Amino acid sequence: MAALPNRERSPVFAAIAIQLVVFGGIYLLRSPLEGVLDYPVPLLWLSLSQGLIAGIITRGFGFSAPWVIGQVIAPPLLLFALALNLPSWIFPVILVLLVLVFWNVAVGRVPLFLTNRTTSEAILKLLPKKKGLHVTDLGSGLGGTLRYLAQKMPDARFTGLETAPLPFALSWMIGKIVGGRNLDYRFRDIFREDLSGYDVIYCFLSPVPMPRLYEKAKKEMKPGSLFISNSFEVPGHRPDKIIKVADRRQTKLLIWRM
Ligand SMILES: C[S@@+](CC[C@H](N)C(=O)[O-])C[C@H]1O[C@@H](n2cnc3c(N)ncnc32)[C@H](O)[C@@H]1O
Repeated sequence: MAALPNRERSPVFAAIAIQLVVFGGIYLLRSPLEGVLDYPVPLLWLSLSQGLIAGIITRGFGFSAPWVIGQVIAPPLLLFALALNLPSWIFPVILVLLVLVFWNVAVGRVPLFLTNRTTSEAILKLLPKKKGLHVTDLGSGLGGTLRYLAQKMPDARFTGLETAPLPFALSWMIGKIVGGRNLDYRFRDIFREDLSGYDVIYCFLSPVPMPRLYEKAKKEMKPGSLFISNSFEVPGHRPDKIIKVADRRQTKLLIWRM
């Protein structure tokens, strides 16, 4: 059985640590500052300062723009939520839901974002029109890409692998209700799957798992099969073909023939 990917230090924990350190600093400085100003600093200003300082530090550590934006808006958002006087059980529930959706961010560093329809159409054009073709989406998210492809190619089989509990449960249920018999979703880590049975692998992950996943695919996939990565390169391995999709984010599909 293949080993699980390395457990790298997660940006989630680093981001939380930065917020806590900034919170500590602001907490310590608040009284002296109010003494100097002779004026109680409003909580809104404190939370805006907290977000701004945390954002600057986060940027300084080389985090990408979405992380920085998240750091800047998190403290005022939290304050806003507290001001709404929502029942206290809402916060743990939201936290649990976020964990269930973004399960693979902390360890694997792969968030949930979805393949758009224009890209799914481009993938459809790339699939060999062969009866019994077996296609997988590694990290299938809400399952939409495979539902579309399975509907367009009833003679092929489509298998999605996902370990984020909520996306998996949703894709599985929707697949049972509206999906055809050529479509299934499995709760499985992509690094635990034997890839030798697939003719086409599609993945839309992040830069982090790509080198390891490519090596695994190279070892296990049949000669002639296709490995398609949405957007993310494999350092040191040039794709055999690149398709530029005419969507708003100018998606690139990187294709390797094994
Ligand atoms: C960017 S989303 C792509 C979703 C879907 N493939 C699409 O294109 O719409 C990546 C998905 O991969 C899942 N994922 C990440 N690492 C995984 C792993 N090791 N095993 C299974 N799923 C994983 C994440 O939970 C996330 O839902």
